[in-house]
Amino acid sequence: MPATVVVGLQWGDEGKGKTTDLLGESVSMVVRYQGGDNAGHTVVLGDETFKLHLVPSGILHPHITPVIGSGVVVNPAVLLDEMAALEARGVSTARLRVSAQAHLIMPYHVALDSAMEARLAEGGIGTTHRGIGPAYADRAWRTGLRVEDLLDPDGLRLRLERLLPGKNAILAAYGAEPFELEPLHAAAVRHGEALRPFVADTFWLVQDALARGEHVLLEGAQGTLLDLDHGTYPYVTSSNPVAGGACTGGGIGPLQVDEVLGIMKAYTTRVGSGPFPTELDDGIGRSMRERGREFGATTGRPRRCGWFDAVPLRYAVAVNSATSIMLNKIDILSGLDEVLVCVAYEVDGERIASWPVAADALARVRPVYRRFPGWHEELADVRRTEELPGNARRYVDALEEMAGVPISIISVGPERTQTIERRARPRRDVAGRVA
Ligand code: GDP
Ligand code: IMO
Ligand code: MG
Repeated sequence: MPATVVVGLQWGDEGKGKTTDLLGESVSMVVRYQGGDNAGHTVVLGDETFKLHLVPSGILHPHITPVIGSGVVVNPAVLLDEMAALEARGVSTARLRVSAQAHLIMPYHVALDSAMEARLAEGGIGTTHRGIGPAYADRAWRTGLRVEDLLDPDGLRLRLERLLPGKNAILAAYGAEPFELEPLHAAAVRHGEALRPFVADTFWLVQDALARGEHVLLEGAQGTLLDLDHGTYPYVTSSNPVAGGACTGGGIGPLQVDEVLGIMKAYTTRVGSGPFPTELDDGIGRSMRERGREFGATTGRPRRCGWFDAVPLRYAVAVNSATSIMLNKIDILSGLDEVLVCVAYEVDGERIASWPVAADALARVRPVYRRFPGWHEELADVRRTEELPGNARRYVDALEEMAGVPISIISVGPERTQTIERRARPRRDVAGRVA
């Protein structure tokens, strides 16, 4: 029962969209297991760039069944817009399936996300304002609505009648406008009618595919350091991007996963607030942002950029059981005389080499760097490890040694073809056969 989990090892935007699309040839199903339209996954095909938020990145392969699992929070209006935009570009969304049990992001969640962030001002999380936290909070409060509720107008009305006064009271406490039941209900029913053909019991869809021996890919959103349990709390998202989240949110058992591919960039980025020990506020940071086009795929915000941080790397490998790593964007580091990697932190006269680091300490640490000679050659056309400049190879080898698991794929550009397949991963075809 082969399933591969694709999971970000840093603070998101590691290139999971490219990876998922790249592996698409060998999978029959791609399942999003957590997060919502806070994600922005980029797939570049020739002249065309697709930025996917809710629709799984496997959609561009016509043989793949894209699935939105029960662990995802779904804003139905956003999903329908995204589907329409894909259709308008000639990408069929007919195969998409959405879990009936996935929770909904309602307009009051979006309003509350913004109102809470506004209240916190400087102390805010820097969320994407997509209603993610409030929707997951409602799920935990057991006051959430699910995709299946959209298909039952009378039941939905009853639930909204019970829920809405409470939601409006909270909104009022934050100085935000209340919502009226009728327009909310009417829009939700309309969305339900449009989504009805796509709603499914995705648990059995996934299980049946696995039982047939097909190769299923679980596409993580965000990244390990944004995980609600394992990230830099409170500067995290409200779900579990880690590989364990693929089980709960995708509806598979832990032993059904036989590969966990950790995705990381050759440097570090972060969007939103929170500690970032290796952040660069200088020309090198700016050049990473410009060369790497580090602007949010969802919000357009400039991403904070900095050197690679190896302190959380082993932690991320361990917490996800990563079997190997895909290293992205090494091409962006060309042109630097030196490339630095943070190997430990210093705080209050002490040296820390292992993660997790207490939140208040993490905000105060000084990174301890190991320096590597850089390279000036452009890497966009490299297709084999041996063609990498010696210094780039030594950098990759050092990262691999620090990770403790193989770097199986290296990416040197946004295109599918700009990829170096380095070490044997378990290679499978769509039917799950080991090639
Ligand atoms: P995701 O959220 O993890 O899917 O990543 P994003 O799509 O938000 O950000 C990654 C960006 O880097 C996208 O614009 C990709 O097209 C691009 N990208 C991915 N891999 C590479 C690479 O190896 N080199 C370069 N130059 N760009 C890449
Ligand atoms: P992908 O899947 C990078 C960040 C936000 C904020 C924090 C909480 O493209 O890698 P939220 O809206 O989730 O409540 O915001 O998480 N964040 C991301 N950062 N990539 C993402 O997704 C992100 N999704 C959320 O910037 O700091
Ligand atoms: Mg992204």
